[in-house]
Amino acid sequence: MTTEFIDIRTDEKEALEKAKRLILKGEVVAIPTETVYGLAANAFDEKAVEKIFAAKGRPQDNPLIVHISEMSQLDALVEEIPDKVKMLAKKYWPGPLTMIMKRSGKIPSVVSAGLDTVAVRMPKSEYARAIISFSGVPLAAPSANLSGSPSPTRAKYVLDDMNGRIPLIIDGGECEIGVESTVVSFAGEKPRLLRPGGITLEQLESVAGEVEVDRAVLNKLEKNATASSPGMKYKHYAPKADITVVKGSLESFCEYVKDKGDFFALCFDGEEKYFAKALSYGKIDDGKSQAKRIFDALRELDEMGAKKVYARCPDLKGMGLAVYNRLIRSAGFDIIEV
Ligand code: TXA
Ligand code: MG
Repeated sequence: MTTEFIDIRTDEKEALEKAKRLILKGEVVAIPTETVYGLAANAFDEKAVEKIFAAKGRPQDNPLIVHISEMSQLDALVEEIPDKVKMLAKKYWPGPLTMIMKRSGKIPSVVSAGLDTVAVRMPKSEYARAIISFSGVPLAAPSANLSGSPSPTRAKYVLDDMNGRIPLIIDGGECEIGVESTVVSFAGEKPRLLRPGGITLEQLESVAGEVEVDRAVLNKLEKNATASSPGMKYKHYAPKADITVVKGSLESFCEYVKDKGDFFALCFDGEEKYFAKALSYGKIDDGKSQAKRIFDALRELDEMGAKKVYARCPDLKGMGLAVYNRLIRSAGFDIIEV
């Protein structure tokens, strides 16, 4: 299959028309969102959704997020809308927040990988919402990377992974946030954070009260444990290089790596000068800037041929929690404290 590439910033009409035609034909289209690029298909079309799993090489037991452009589309997807979901939607939709609820019978089971719940999000990206509303159907979409690779924040990275596997990539420029949406489940008794992302835990709690943090957010799942979010049990976001996360001050980091031989330091802005080979992933005290850079930096390390990488550890406050969550997965939980 040849993969067509259209820039929605310059050819909006053509991009919307082509995307709509393919989506209603049951094909998969890569679309920009404010978090990362998504691989989208009609959420009501079982065969189309199966093509997403095939294009991505995604395990069948890992459910997808359904993207909507208007609140009125939510009713058809879920059994009921909990009050806290309504409150959070009012404050943070459109935005980088995914909420899990009991699934209605209209959503094919393959979307949710057989679970009785469904994850829903209304993206903030105007391009994403235009594609959804122009197509007229909610779109099931995971991140547009091959399963296991870092999520793509630029259309060229989608092309690297998806060339020949899908018919169309819509380029909408660089993603504003750079890490995926926050995933919160409302299917249990208390709201539960399954994946930190563009909306912080602090922001969630200011609207919905206490939110439990799933163990898998900060820890490796023990063998045989059931994952509340199946995505968390897989190796994730991993570049080709072998990464070790080093927790501690800049000084102890330098002390630790000084006799390590050939390596790249994945560090913060301004620290590059301390290492022979280094790449920065944002400002030290600014989780937002780190979120925007982290996946790009992981892909750039591959482009630079890095084999061994020691990474500075972000602070866990605010967006830092989402950055840390991605970084420890990209390192396969190889974390040391110095
Ligand atoms: O920002 C985002 O969320 C991006 C853009 C494209 O919207 N999408 C994204 O999708 O990151 P994906 O498939 O890469 O990650 C979805 C995560 C997975 O970890 C999956 O296991 C979890 O959400 N998830 C989806 N539906 C779920 C459900 N019903 N129950 C528990 N976890 C669910
Ligand atoms: Mg993903």
